[in-house]
Amino acid sequence: MSKTFKLDGREIPFETGQTIMDAALAAGVYIPHLCHNPEFAPHGSCRVCVVDIGGRQVSACTAAASEGLEVDNSSEAIQETRRAILQMLFVEGNHVCPACEKSGACQLQAVAYYTGMLAPHFTHFFPRRSVDASHPDVVIDFNRCILCELCVRASRDHDGKRVFAISGRGLESHLVIDSHSGLLGDSSFAATDKAAHVCPTGAILPKGRGYETPIGERLYDREPISIVGDVRAHE
Ligand code: FES
Repeated sequence: MSKTFKLDGREIPFETGQTIMDAALAAGVYIPHLCHNPEFAPHGSCRVCVVDIGGRQVSACTAAASEGLEVDNSSEAIQETRRAILQMLFVEGNHVCPACEKSGACQLQAVAYYTGMLAPHFTHFFPRRSVDASHPDVVIDFNRCILCELCVRASRDHDGKRVFAISGRGLESHLVIDSHSGLLGDSSFAATDKAAHVCPTGAILPKGRGYETPIGERLYDREPISIVGDVRAHE
């Protein structure tokens, strides 16, 4: 007989070694996430996947599933925690959704809608960050980076290149490029790299396709991320 735990009262089967996120996604149950991508080792940095187990809040993408757990994934209290985390992500960077070509197909924006976030709430940091348009095929807007390290992991673990890394600590943490100039155009990065297709925000975007899909026809315009998921966001 397979082992199970309860997620919002629903029995979720799991295999030994799976996380709560792994088992939930396999069962077709959505748990909000940004730094998680099943193709890469869990990172546990964004905290958006927070769930409650007996009064303890844990990250579903790193917490092991175990028999008999009762997991709260959708109470107002847990959604409130997620909203606060998302609000902090929004004010830490410069996210101007109406002007961003990823709007409507952005996981950060879609998860914010999913949790009912209507405003940033906290004071904006307005950090001074740059845009790197040195590469012929891809642009990086550091204003939109949420430090999920998906591009770091994809470049290292899939592409075998290590184009990206995180430098600094705490508020000083930022994404850096491994090239003599620090510019993407001087790195070994290619538009066909996996790392070019994993960003959950509009930080890494292909050139020459801006605003290709009209408003109303973008990925999350008609259905929420809890239904659509995030796979097609990377296409
Ligand atoms: Fe779990 Fe980011 S998705 S911490």
